[in-house]
Amino acid sequence: MQSIWEKGFDMPGRDALRGDIEADVLVVGAGIAGVNCAYRMQRAGLKVVVLEAERVGTGATSRTTGKITAQHGLIYDLLTRSFDARTAELYARANQNAVEEYAEIVAREKIDCDFARADNFVFAREGGELLEAEFEAMRAAGLDAKLVEKTELPFPVAGAVGLSGQAHFHPLKYLRALAEKLEIYEHSRVRTIEDGVARTDAGSVRARDIVVATHFPFINAPGYYFLRMHQERSAVMTLEGASEIRGMYIDEADGGLSFRPQRGALLVGSGSWRTGKNPGNQFSELRRKAKECYPDAREICAWTSQDCMPQDHIPYIGKYGGSTEHLFVATGFGKWGMSSSMVAAMLLTDRIMGVSNEAADVFSPQRSPVHGFDGLADDVKETVKGFAKYIMPPKDMLEDIRPGEAGTVEYEGQKLGAYRDERGGIHLVSLSCPHLGCILGWNPDDLSWDCPCHGSRFDIDGTLLDGPAQRNLPDGEDET
Ligand code: FES
Repeated sequence: MQSIWEKGFDMPGRDALRGDIEADVLVVGAGIAGVNCAYRMQRAGLKVVVLEAERVGTGATSRTTGKITAQHGLIYDLLTRSFDARTAELYARANQNAVEEYAEIVAREKIDCDFARADNFVFAREGGELLEAEFEAMRAAGLDAKLVEKTELPFPVAGAVGLSGQAHFHPLKYLRALAEKLEIYEHSRVRTIEDGVARTDAGSVRARDIVVATHFPFINAPGYYFLRMHQERSAVMTLEGASEIRGMYIDEADGGLSFRPQRGALLVGSGSWRTGKNPGNQFSELRRKAKECYPDAREICAWTSQDCMPQDHIPYIGKYGGSTEHLFVATGFGKWGMSSSMVAAMLLTDRIMGVSNEAADVFSPQRSPVHGFDGLADDVKETVKGFAKYIMPPKDMLEDIRPGEAGTVEYEGQKLGAYRDERGGIHLVSLSCPHLGCILGWNPDDLSWDCPCHGSRFDIDGTLLDGPAQRNLPDGEDET
């Protein structure tokens, strides 16, 4: 399932790291966060090296909707109530600065990446009481918010709160242009980081400062990010022949639709479910909703994406752990990875260059927990359930699993996951997640085995698709 960005797109390949090298800064991960960080740090005069476990931009960046906006759902009222007005103001300014930084980079580097300004809106199909509060919170945070009663969408709305001057782009075209300027090694998975040295299977990088920008951080301690966020998935499709819109839209209600234009086509997104707890039929549900809106449109492609969801809705950007003065992290971007990754690039460049940044404490991973978020309890509950599945018996008989279906079976004394492909072949994998041992669940939309605890994913043969796990399942092919 290729995204609209991946279709017909070519990202030049890079060599793997061989041998031992040195740099001022090592960035681990060549998605949009890593590349933005590396680009800004290199421009600041630092020698930067980037190590990527797979290929440039093959992770979350290739599956985003590519919206660049400081309006993140109804975040400002939430931040004002949960933290305070100052936190909301600093969050707003950091993200609006990020939007402008994209515009500057695109103009300065003359990047042909379909970058276009657009208004962004959060709409309500009914009710709409929350929009008023969000409008007030956005204005108080310094954003030039507006309330409207009508939109371009093909259904009536109760209202929408909007922000002008936001943007969208082709994320991989942007990434390719910046990556050309950087020293990047692909197929170079970092196994360990110790005393300023990151080691891969074939080499090492010694750096004064190291930034981990791997979507989900792969080092469990310090930081303990697996206790502080979970991953969620959503579905997106691209339509041709839908009525054109100029703005970007997202429903304030859980499970509602999102819309954004892309060169005459339309991206429609929907749903959000915890990784490992896929309810199934996510594509058919999205297709049904899109058909209601645009009965004559034609589907070009559909795909799923995965996001790291921090418990208090603010990304973790700063020192990896309380005492790691030269090891940094950028993660937990929620569904707003484009603006958040640039916030990370700006904050971490300032930090490494010794420049103070007014938003550093807001995004600091060492910030104090606030009351009112039940994410930790939910995450712990899911983890306990993930382990508890160990004691549940296998549910299926191998011969009862039909082509295109999966089940949990007992095979030669072991409890395994089994998928029968369309030709009748059986694919067996261990169901124990290599990260911390939770039991994987079947994802029928993506045909993958997903972990409900922290979101690692594996294909039908056990090959690692998404971390924080760093290895394939025992029956998978060799790890990358
Ligand atoms: Fe942590 Fe599976 S991702 S146990």
